[in-house]
Amino acid sequence: MQVINGPKTPPFVQLIEAIARPTERLDTYAKKYGDVFISTLSGFRPFVLFSHPQAIQQILTADPHKFDSGAGNQILHPLVGDYSLLLLDGNRHQRQRQLLTPPFHGDRMKSYGQLICEIAQQGMNKLVIGETFSMRSVMQEISLRIILRAVFGLDETEQFQQLRKLLSSILDSVGSPLSSSLLFVPSLQKDLGAWSPWGKFVRQKQAIDRIIYDEIKTRRAENNIGEDILSLMMSAKDEAGQSMTDVELRDELMTLLFAGHETTASALAWAFYWIHKLPEVKSKLLAELNNTSTNFDPNTVVKLPYLTAVCQETLRIYPIAMFTFSRILKAPFQIMGYDFAPGTQLTPCIYLTHQREDIYPEPKQFKPERFLERQFSPYEFLPFGGSNRRCIGMAFAMFEMKLVLATIMSQWQMNITETKPVQPVRRGITLAPSGGVKMMLTAKY
Ligand code: HEM
Repeated sequence: MQVINGPKTPPFVQLIEAIARPTERLDTYAKKYGDVFISTLSGFRPFVLFSHPQAIQQILTADPHKFDSGAGNQILHPLVGDYSLLLLDGNRHQRQRQLLTPPFHGDRMKSYGQLICEIAQQGMNKLVIGETFSMRSVMQEISLRIILRAVFGLDETEQFQQLRKLLSSILDSVGSPLSSSLLFVPSLQKDLGAWSPWGKFVRQKQAIDRIIYDEIKTRRAENNIGEDILSLMMSAKDEAGQSMTDVELRDELMTLLFAGHETTASALAWAFYWIHKLPEVKSKLLAELNNTSTNFDPNTVVKLPYLTAVCQETLRIYPIAMFTFSRILKAPFQIMGYDFAPGTQLTPCIYLTHQREDIYPEPKQFKPERFLERQFSPYEFLPFGGSNRRCIGMAFAMFEMKLVLATIMSQWQMNITETKPVQPVRRGITLAPSGGVKMMLTAKY
């Protein structure tokens, strides 16, 4: 039997490294231990990390009943609750996934196109020429409005404005590398009053719950069936003819609001960073956008090849999720000659796979052309994971990224004003640009 190596650093130190130096530590370990290694973070069972496409293919194409994943995502429990798709396994996961999938079907994306462009424009119109702003904050506001409008149909009432503020601040409260520890270290989760970090978190969550439950109650009372995602979720029925309870709806709404805007906001901030850091990328993108008809049709824009390649390369170089969810074995399993016992936590590492020199030569260089020259397999390029846990918002996220980029790039001119190098840092469980990418508007066309 082959033995798997890994860092001998104490688990507590590995946890601190995972919070404070999330990508450097992975680069170092991969260089030292290769395609498969074990990392142990205190408070978690050991992770077996994989970055070889063959191993990833074996994991993502195996019978999903062989694994649990929700059990490995408990770190998100305080945000999303018991019934979140993220935390469920087995039949319960399959049921919730079936109920949640229809609103995210490729075809339905078309109905969100105009909305996405309008919200991007409104978000940018608030900025003043000559003033510096954080691109990540602007993208967070835009993507939050987009997901709120897609989910609830509205965002202009006072209640929604309050919900928007609460969601932003609850995510900010676990958003810095330091405050992310609140999620990673359960012993810090103590409510010591409204001013303590966890006390604040708990109160913000209660206020969000009240707004969401009020909305569900009103919809039920008015039998209010619209076109938005909540309406589709309320009318969806499982095979036994059952629809979701209020608690299930609340937990899935929180899941979508959380998973559906943090990720896209960071991806967009990175995309703007690369486009403005590399003049050649910017001029190629602008040339493609200028050549597109003057009629800004979202369905044409999303098919543009260079724009698509820019989005793919953005998600390759610093994938927002560094790992897929862990697949926790329920039965013995063999991968590339290694034997694994039940209970082992198999974790495809998206970041290290995307950094492989043999698949992506000069992996630290941002080169959208790679995606025009070659087709990558779903085990070489996997920013949205795969198998039965693949991101349900994948089509929505790609659609949103392309439309927001095209809308803004074709109407506004800006520069990066960051003086420090922009590095990937932890934001909750995701990877975001340090400093938020400071930029300045210089002109509007
Ligand atoms: C750039 C944006 C995004 C990235 C990079 C991303 C990435 C991911 C990844 C890596 C997973 C885990 C997949 C696996 O373990 O195989 C995931 C799961 C998930 N994502 Fe996303 N995501 C993004 C946007 C979104 C959006 C917009 C939504 C919803 C509106 C969303 C909802 C979800 C949900 C609900 C799951 C859990 C699926 C399950 O457990 O069955 N994500 N995402």
